[in-house]
Order: sequence, then C-alpha cells, then structure tokens
Amino acid sequence: MELLTICLRDGSFNSRVLTIVEELARKLRQRTHRFDKVDQVPLFNEDRELTPSSAVTSLRTRVKHSDAVLIATPEYRGSMPGVLKNLLDWAARPVGESMFISLPVAVISASPSEHGGARARQSTEFALERKGAAVVSTGRGLPHAHRRENKDTGFLEDSAVGQLRSIITRLSANHESDVSAQVAELTDEAA
Ligand SMILES: Cc1cc2nc3c(=O)[nH]c(=O)nc-3n(C[C@H](O)[C@H](O)[C@H](O)COP(=O)(O)O)c2cc1C
Repeated sequence: MELLTICLRDGSFNSRVLTIVEELARKLRQRTHRFDKVDQVPLFNEDRELTPSSAVTSLRTRVKHSDAVLIATPEYRGSMPGVLKNLLDWAARPVGESMFISLPVAVISASPSEHGGARARQSTEFALERKGAAVVSTGRGLPHAHRRENKDTGFLEDSAVGQLRSIITRLSANHESDVSAQVAELTDEAA
C-alpha cells in the first residue's frame, strides 16, 4: 500500500502523530509519502480549476497514485480548518474528476482539549464522504495531546500507538479487499 499522509504544519501535535504513523507503516512494510506543499496551495478558485498551480497538480497526482490517505487535522473553532477544506476542494474538482472516489481515507485529530478535535474529524469525514471517499472511521481523536508523553518515543502512550497501528491495518485491508475485488472482476470477465 502507498499511504499518503497530510497535516497542516510541521512541529505540531498532529505532525508528531503522523510521524509515528509513518514509522509504524514502514515497520508494516507499507510505503508512505507526506504531502509537503500545503502552504503552497492557493485558495480554491473555480475560474482556475482547469489550469491549476504546480502545488495543486502535485496534490492531485499524489492523491491519485495513493492507495489510501491518512489526514491528521487540528480543530479550529469547532470545525475542520479552512486550509484543509481548501485542499480537499482542489483535490475533488473539476466535477466528475474527484481524486477521492472510492479511495480509503481515515481522519485523526489531536488536540489539547478533552474532545480531541472530534468536531474537526467529523466535519472532515463529512466533506470527504461528499467527495466520494471511502471513509474509514477511526472513531475517536487524541484528547489532551499536550499530556501524552511516552518515555521511549517522546510522544503518545502505547495504547494510542496501538490504535494508530490498527488504523493503518484497516486502511491496508480496505485497499487489499479492493484489489481482491478487482482481481475477481477481471477473472469473471475473462471466463
Ligand atoms: C484559530 C484556532 C482555533 C482553535 N480552535 C480550537 C477548537 O475549536 N477546538 C480545539 O480543541 N482546539 C482549538 N484550537 C487549539 C488547537 O487544538 C491547538 O492549537 C493545537 O495545537 C492545534 O493542533 P496542531 O498542534 O496539530 O496544529 C484552536 C487553535 C487555533 C490556532
């Protein structure tokens, strides 16, 4: 599986979570790529969707060539950040060319608050479903992110790391079942 990871800024709680996910994925022999051009993506403009900037083309190409996507997002004002919504809008346009159709996508959210950015996760999942993604529900965020220290990894206690591992496994299984379905379909056609 080629896993695309997305977060909004370096040095953040959510970036630290993604770094742990990427290390876990490598141990599980999955390839990962982090989209690193978030701050180069312009504001979405429908006049320019047929002639997008190189950062937008890079985003669309990355999503297209990934088997699954994992987004780690903060919560801003009780919702997903506008920057993230902007990325999703670019990747889901023009009409009929959404890069997300049937793509397994999971959303996690770390926050210092007790809710763990649950509303950001829910609003992101809702937007992704509207854009045709096969959302793999992660069920919960990572609350009290500022208090989650691990003496070995520096961040996140073992139970949280276990949850992240299970999300990777589920994304991977989703991808593998898609592959099996495609193989079965091709076999039926050939028969
Ligand atoms: C503009 C803004 C709005 C925020 N609104 C929320 C919020 O609604 N809920 C929440 O849990 N944290 C909120 N926070 C605090 C963030 O959870 C905190 O800044 C966190 O570090 C962001 O995640 P990051 O470190 O991955 O960027 C907000 C922060 C900013 C900058």
